[in-house]
Amino acid sequence: METKLVRIDKNNIDAALVRAAGDVIRAGGLVAFPTETVYGLGGDALNAASSEKIYQAKGRPSDNPLIVHIADMEALAAIVREIPESAVKLAGRFWPGPLTMIFYKAELVPYETTGGLDTVAVRMPVDPVARELIRAAGGYVAAPSANRSGRPSPTVAKYVIEDLDGRVEMIVDGGDVEIGLESTIVDLTEEPPTVLRPGYITVEMLREVLGDVAEDRTMLRDDSGQAPKAPGMKYRHYAPKGELTIVDGAEQSVIEYINSRIDRHRRENKKTGVIATDTSVKRYRADVCKSAGDRRDEATVARELYRILREFDDEQVEVIYAESFDTDGIGQAIMNRLLKAAGHRIIHVS
Ligand code: TXA
Ligand code: MG
Repeated sequence: METKLVRIDKNNIDAALVRAAGDVIRAGGLVAFPTETVYGLGGDALNAASSEKIYQAKGRPSDNPLIVHIADMEALAAIVREIPESAVKLAGRFWPGPLTMIFYKAELVPYETTGGLDTVAVRMPVDPVARELIRAAGGYVAAPSANRSGRPSPTVAKYVIEDLDGRVEMIVDGGDVEIGLESTIVDLTEEPPTVLRPGYITVEMLREVLGDVAEDRTMLRDDSGQAPKAPGMKYRHYAPKGELTIVDGAEQSVIEYINSRIDRHRRENKKTGVIATDTSVKRYRADVCKSAGDRRDEATVARELYRILREFDDEQVEVIYAESFDTDGIGQAIMNRLLKAAGHRIIHVS
């Protein structure tokens, strides 16, 4: 398939291009597009055949449900059985934005979109290109992250093209994303509402609005025996090709430990890499040292993490060490993704 690549500037949206992209989705085709979290691979959420195509294009197991993206509150009522009070409150505070809520689904939503579940995940993104596209496409766009299954979610169009060129009708390049990690998912069919995937909207922020909010216990731990409630969280995700280990502890000890490991790997002729931060990056001896951002502003780390993981793949790094991050605020989402990428390999040094 010939993939059409178009650029849309979010500060100056070309309505004709958005209409063309919307028409592709209306006709049952697929369009990759930017959101504020990561790029999404969009199809008509109410068309079972489109959802099947999404699974094929991603190489993703079809029991892994898709998020339905909407552009306004009016669209919600048609696809869910009921809108609980908690949803009204959360939408008032966090929509449009990086929050996905899970509801009981209405009949209109095909099981192909929900991976066979009676529930449906819904998100209203804030990115203006995403919003215009959703409207142009008829109001309901199913969109997983626009990566091939098992690779980090794309935060720049270059990686969407790398993963999906030739597999989708259109790719919309809308520039770099703002957040860099996928949306927070909160399941409103559970009592109390339960966070299934941490993101930019933290559990504390949700508690400020709802009071009691639980967390799926597989979020930060390696509960191999237990199935996470978001089916997608069980798959080996975000994994770089090199073997990744997180090292946690005081800065000086972490640097010394990692450098000693790197010396050893070098004797084995392995290409080494380090995921560091702005203040530490110059102190490592690895072949490839990258700063993920400013430790005092973890949002910078969230934005760079997936791009960095992909770059280690591009540069064929075989062994990677990463510094660890605080787990408050966005740090919880960073550590959730980093731990998955590392297959939960973490070493504590003192
Ligand atoms: O930020 C995001 O959410 C991005 C952008 C494109 O919007 N999308 C995204 O989609 O991350 P995806 O498909 O990569 O991840 C969706 C996650 C999966 O882990 C899936 O299992 C879970 O949401 N999910 C979807 N529907 C669900 C449901 N009904 N119940 C439980 N988990 C669900
Ligand atoms: Mg994904």
